Amino acid sequence: MCGIVGYVGKQKAAPLIMEGLKRLEYRGYDSAGVAVFQDGRFELAKKIGRVANLEIEAARHKLTGHQGIGHTRWATHGGVTDANAHPHISSDGTIALIHNGVIENYAQMKKFLLTKGFTFKSETDTEVLCNLIAYHYAKEPKPTNGDSRFVESVRKTLGHAEGTYGIVIMALDAPGELVTARKGSPLILGLGDGESLVASDVSAIVSRTQNVVYLKDGEIAHLTANNFSITTLSSGTVEPVIDKVTWSIEDAEMGAHAHFMEKEIFEQPTALENAMRGRFSEDGSTAKFGGLNITAGEFRGVDRFMFCACGTALHACMVTEHLIERFARIPVECDYASEFRYRNTPLFRNSLFFVMSQSGETIDTLAAMREAKRKGYKVLAINNVVGSTIAREADGGIYQHVGPEVGVASTKAFTSQLLIGAMLALYLARMRDMSFSDGTQFVEALKQAPNLVRKALEQAPHIKAIAKRYAKSQDMLFLGRLSLFPIALEGALKLKEISYIHAEGYPAAEMKHGPIALISPECPSVFFAPNNEIFNKVVSSMQEIKARKGPIIAIVTEDAELPDGLADEVIRIPQCHEAVLPIVASIPVQLLSYYIAVERGCDVDKPRNLAKSVTVE
Ligand code: G6P
Repeated sequence: MCGIVGYVGKQKAAPLIMEGLKRLEYRGYDSAGVAVFQDGRFELAKKIGRVANLEIEAARHKLTGHQGIGHTRWATHGGVTDANAHPHISSDGTIALIHNGVIENYAQMKKFLLTKGFTFKSETDTEVLCNLIAYHYAKEPKPTNGDSRFVESVRKTLGHAEGTYGIVIMALDAPGELVTARKGSPLILGLGDGESLVASDVSAIVSRTQNVVYLKDGEIAHLTANNFSITTLSSGTVEPVIDKVTWSIEDAEMGAHAHFMEKEIFEQPTALENAMRGRFSEDGSTAKFGGLNITAGEFRGVDRFMFCACGTALHACMVTEHLIERFARIPVECDYASEFRYRNTPLFRNSLFFVMSQSGETIDTLAAMREAKRKGYKVLAINNVVGSTIAREADGGIYQHVGPEVGVASTKAFTSQLLIGAMLALYLARMRDMSFSDGTQFVEALKQAPNLVRKALEQAPHIKAIAKRYAKSQDMLFLGRLSLFPIALEGALKLKEISYIHAEGYPAAEMKHGPIALISPECPSVFFAPNNEIFNKVVSSMQEIKARKGPIIAIVTEDAELPDGLADEVIRIPQCHEAVLPIVASIPVQLLSYYIAVERGCDVDKPRNLAKSVTVE
């Protein structure tokens, strides 16, 4: 949430920062701004709306300096106005700051600063923090421990700050220097050739360098074009670890696709192959994972799993719950990470925790994980972004390996989470009662997933035509049972987040206890009806909708026969193993939401009010 970029080096800073901001725009797009240090002062351009607006504004400011900071905002404190956009400059003009997070005690700080003569142009917590740094900077004597006065004043200020932050700061009398610090909001340093960068996401850095340092919570870094050092907020020393990013900038580009979401939908066969690669045992009867850091014996001792996540990732947890309970016969509970944290759930002695998060930065998921760890539980993470906070703080985990996902609506990350969940169910089942031959069949079925998804994607033109017919709907129901109930929830979420059509996901039979009241010729229902043991029950639910003149879009497996005339639209998906079905069934609802949103002229990759990575509570 909120994109951050800082640069110091030989190049003109503003164009590089704005290029980085464009790559980070999915983190927030209420406003954007850039401040450049030039001719002994800060030159500032900021504008509500997208980075494209900022570029027009920036052109009027002639930003020529070689050092600067930039920001895309997802508003928390204060409305979406030019004044509230970042960067903020202290009222004495000495400090420029960008911030991701929330300073909870900003009101007390502001009261204090008003008594010291500071003034405020915005309603933000960030401007308060900026002025407080300026206050400390002005008073700060040169430290004796070799640190700079600049670093010390930031350290002192952050000692008073409650809440979360990822910040980057420039000081008027420290040209060529950036100071950056984090608590709860991600920050990554990029170490280039005669230049240094800092950003909230690797994608803003990777076009300049693949050498990065993931800053940890409670750390503060000092950067110049050719050097950097890291200390802790409590003045401790840090031996930095330089990592290499394994993907290149092309992976985060749209290529010939109209939207990132479209690209990522069609990338799914490859993404699934990558998520599976090297993860089956040599005898081909089970899954294996390298980074779980937990012995088979410990796994066998687990009598209950707890999964926590947010949004789409929670739907993947719910499918995983179904598969683990069905195949490994171990009880699983899923919870919204934000609820788990405050619910004080009674826990079992032999529970094992999993969190799922594409970004690995979602604050609610991170907080749930920390709460479980505080209670003494091991927490494993299923996560896509390598080096993310969740990945680093987990006791072990499984990387999704699907490369950067840019579209705000998650697609390839979701199906890879489903695949990993299925592999985990297999792994646990094989430790218990699943036979060698059932395990082998399961593995063979999972290996088919990429091809089955390819086949499902061939329906795209048919689904596009259906989307045109239903694009004007105001409400839509998504109905599924068993492992496809979470896919119904996901279908509804996908549609509402990118097309703004009100949609609800329900267990198909439960629909008659409320949602059926919405049914009319204007409210279509999307049914998942695979040919399985409850196919006829789902068909009965369809009849109940049909009797009330509700249009039906049926997603059925190729071998399923629906009564003539029952469904208005039929989308066929390949028959597949139960563990692969949720993956294959996700494809038509992703495509349906995508094409409906395009038909309605919506900004598919940047839906209003949303952000890809939610780093505030
Ligand atoms: C946001 C995104 C969703 C995502 C959720 C959890 O709400 O818009 O697409 O599913 O966060 O994100 P995570 O990175 O933890 O999977």
